[in-house]
Amino acid sequence: MSVTVRVPAKVNVQLAVGAARPDGFHDLANVFLAVDLHDEVTVTPADALRVTCAGPDAAEVPLDRTNLAARAAIALAERYGRTPDVHLHIAKDIPVAGGMAGGSADGAGALLACDTLWGTGASREELLDICAELGSDVPFSLVGGAALGTGRGEQLTPLEVGATFHWVFAMAGRGLSTPAVFREFDRLAEGRDVPEPVASRELLAALAKGDPDALADAVSNDLQPAALSLFPDLAHTLAAGRAAGALAALVSGSGPTTAFLTRDPESARQVARALTASGTCRTVRTATGAAPGATVL
Ligand code: C5P
Repeated sequence: MSVTVRVPAKVNVQLAVGAARPDGFHDLANVFLAVDLHDEVTVTPADALRVTCAGPDAAEVPLDRTNLAARAAIALAERYGRTPDVHLHIAKDIPVAGGMAGGSADGAGALLACDTLWGTGASREELLDICAELGSDVPFSLVGGAALGTGRGEQLTPLEVGATFHWVFAMAGRGLSTPAVFREFDRLAEGRDVPEPVASRELLAALAKGDPDALADAVSNDLQPAALSLFPDLAHTLAAGRAAGALAALVSGSGPTTAFLTRDPESARQVARALTASGTCRTVRTATGAAPGATVL
């Protein structure tokens, strides 16, 4: 018997970052939107814990116990006094180290898959607690839709989304390390007062209304200067998307994936074609959001 869970990627439509805290993390006002690029995690009983991965980026995915899917299985097994003897297979479509929460998606997917396989009866709150232990973005991968993440991003408030938003994503030729991008944020902030992160009222209203023009005016990412500082060529990708008619162009989370908001499916296809032709990125995908969270298939 095996269980498969489908988990979405995310884009941050707002990522407001505060000063570094004593524990090294940063307080955030993080407006997550799940989009319909997915990983699928399949769990099957086995003699010992084993992780495999398939997909275009599979070679870059760690298959040891540092993989968030393995850590999720171990965390759940420990809580319920059992051994995590499962084979976890990840069918990977979300870019690796891309700023779209692909690793977090695998953590949330493995957790829900193991929970279903083992029939633990864990409550939603318990699963969300384990997610938060695994990483700041993992709770959102479980929940999906749209949500405001505060604290280090793990404390979620669901948000209303009034219509489907049409996106184009440009994947870069290499990844960026999230801790490195936060360190660069700290370096660029040296000697400056970093304001408390707050969610934009205009942005939340635009999401609730389903208004892409208003959302485009309100999107922001405080990590973007740090990502561009470490990966200056991303500026060419952003410029190519803007020139092709995207309503907004921004780095997704800590990057290096760039995200382009468009008005409708036709303009998304047009921006995608132009980005592909620009030669400024590795691959281009269209996606819509909000998408549901982790779902047992
Ligand atoms: O929580 P997660 O393990 O995904 O975070 C990865 C890294 O990103 C952290 O070790 C930290 O360097 C940085 N981070 C941060 N503030 C947050 C979330 C992540 O500094 N709110």
